[in-house]
Amino acid sequence: MAITITVNGHQHALDVPPDMPLLWVLRDVLDMTGTKFGCGSNLCGACTVHKDGKAVRSCQVAIGDAAGSSITTIEGLDANSQHPVQVAWIKEQVPACGYCQSGQIMTAAAFLTQNPDPEDEEIVRAMEGNLCRCGQYVRIQRAVKTAADEMKTRGATTNG
Ligand code: FES
Ligand code: FES
Repeated sequence: MAITITVNGHQHALDVPPDMPLLWVLRDVLDMTGTKFGCGSNLCGACTVHKDGKAVRSCQVAIGDAAGSSITTIEGLDANSQHPVQVAWIKEQVPACGYCQSGQIMTAAAFLTQNPDPEDEEIVRAMEGNLCRCGQYVRIQRAVKTAADEMKTRGATTNG
């Protein structure tokens, strides 16, 4: 029986084994390669996407357990790639090789939705599970702070 999920607002009925990891479905079935395979073992965070608004590691989510869920990937975070986290990432020149970056951005975006005004230590804790082999951690932390400021500014503009 087909498994139905919504990815970036589009519904898909998939004829795949229920134990296939969501990451495989995204990359190999739906051809959405923005989400990266790093370890496949819940160790690096490169595969992070949002499932019903929460950051999850797509290598650890069986597609059968995602049935009926709404998934957001880096391709769908913002229609114009202008999410405050993406804007901050460019401003702070975060990416080096880029491989870990979609996972970093998806983790940061979900975190700031839950905690729009984080302390520095909270940012470190929220992001520490996302590994960066290029060692861009200082820039990542700075960019999360910048994104929080950008979100406040947009909120003030929207509300004012
Ligand atoms: S690929 Fe999923 S945590 Fe590393
Ligand atoms: S930018 Fe290269 S792994 Fe993070």
